[in-house]
Amino acid sequence: MNARPPIPIFPVAPSAPTAVATTPDDLAHTAVDQLGRAVHDLRISVTDRCNFRCTYCMPKDVFDRDHAFLPRNALLSFEEITRIARLFVGQGVRKIRITGGEPLLRKQLERLIEQLARLDVEVTLTTNGALLAQKARSLADAGLRRVTVSLDALDDAIFRRMNDVDFPVERVLAGIAAAADAGLGPIKVNCVVKRGTNDGEILPLARHFRGSGHILRFIEFMDVGSHNGWNLNAVLPSGEVVNRINAEFPLEALDANYTGEVAERWRYRDGAGEVGVISSVSHAFCRDCTRMRLSPEGQLFTCLFADRGHDLRDLLRAGADDSALTARIRQVWRGRDDRYSELRGEASRAAKVEMSYIGG
Ligand code: GTP
Ligand code: 5AD
Ligand code: SF4
Ligand code: SF4
Repeated sequence: MNARPPIPIFPVAPSAPTAVATTPDDLAHTAVDQLGRAVHDLRISVTDRCNFRCTYCMPKDVFDRDHAFLPRNALLSFEEITRIARLFVGQGVRKIRITGGEPLLRKQLERLIEQLARLDVEVTLTTNGALLAQKARSLADAGLRRVTVSLDALDDAIFRRMNDVDFPVERVLAGIAAAADAGLGPIKVNCVVKRGTNDGEILPLARHFRGSGHILRFIEFMDVGSHNGWNLNAVLPSGEVVNRINAEFPLEALDANYTGEVAERWRYRDGAGEVGVISSVSHAFCRDCTRMRLSPEGQLFTCLFADRGHDLRDLLRAGADDSALTARIRQVWRGRDDRYSELRGEASRAAKVEMSYIGG
């Protein structure tokens, strides 16, 4: 029995009529949203569960034993996910990122990766690294190209406090090493910086990863979801992160790899590789945001800060054909006008989707 009702984090937008009028001519054009952006990336969350309780994402007092996680039959099957992904590839998606919760908790995830890898698309995954040491090889064999691993501290005590399940940092480092051995590089390492909690870890992390071939990125603490206790004082602006690193290891700016890249890139002037910052709070990047998100139960979210999703699962399970599903996808994308990070402050929202539900 749940002692409290589930948190109302993902209301569904009213369903569109099943038959959305489309013509072959209409389908021949790239769909752009209200701000002229085309869809390029699909981020697929495969579970709302996680084996960590990072304080900025799944605070223990909210995500406790009484929390109602999604039941198994609510989740899209791998076949359903692959079908939707294939339709997105038809709409211009070239990169798929698998997220969670913690995606490696989803049983037989390798089967999904095998199916997605057959599409004309790069398949990547973001993980907390806890299970990576044992799974890196099978993930690579299934066709995964790269991984991004979250790591908020090198100091074991700070790391255990931040994951809040007493998980040792050594095991994540072993996961990163196993991923590198399995050919899942270049590996990106994501560190969410909270001022006063782990900003003292910026330089140790930089020292550790420079020269390793892995790309360390520092992410500004964001006001995602409704339960992570966000406040602006806990945000360390990326500019300050860069200044701190630059004072010890001189940096120079690099161009983006592609339009819409989330991270700003810097290189160590001495040739020891690359480091990045993700400045969602201090320097919003909505203008080029080409990401659509698919939730574990088949809702489309057009923004990380959305207060509602657009259901696809009902349509899928009612037997809709590919063109009806494609029309729905295009309709959702075309209606999209999100730019939450640019509006932050003006756009206060009562309820926002949780990061652990929709992925980073
Ligand atoms: P690659 O370039 O393929 O490595 O992917 P990426 O840079 O998108 O990396 P990743 O998916 O690891 O994203 C890094 C982090 O950036 C996420 O964990 C989020 O914290 C943040 N992020 C990613 N996409 C968005 C977005 O659309 N909006 C905001 N506000 N933050 C985002
Ligand atoms: N702010 C910034 N990044 C976050 N992530 C989770 N919650 C937040 C937040 N509040 C990041 C994690 C991980 C990815 C899944 O999302 O660190 O890298
Ligand atoms: Fe931490 Fe990622 Fe799990 Fe959230 S989903 S609690 S950020 S490991
Ligand atoms: Fe995209 Fe929303 Fe993030 Fe802006 S806030 S970059 S629109 S996901």
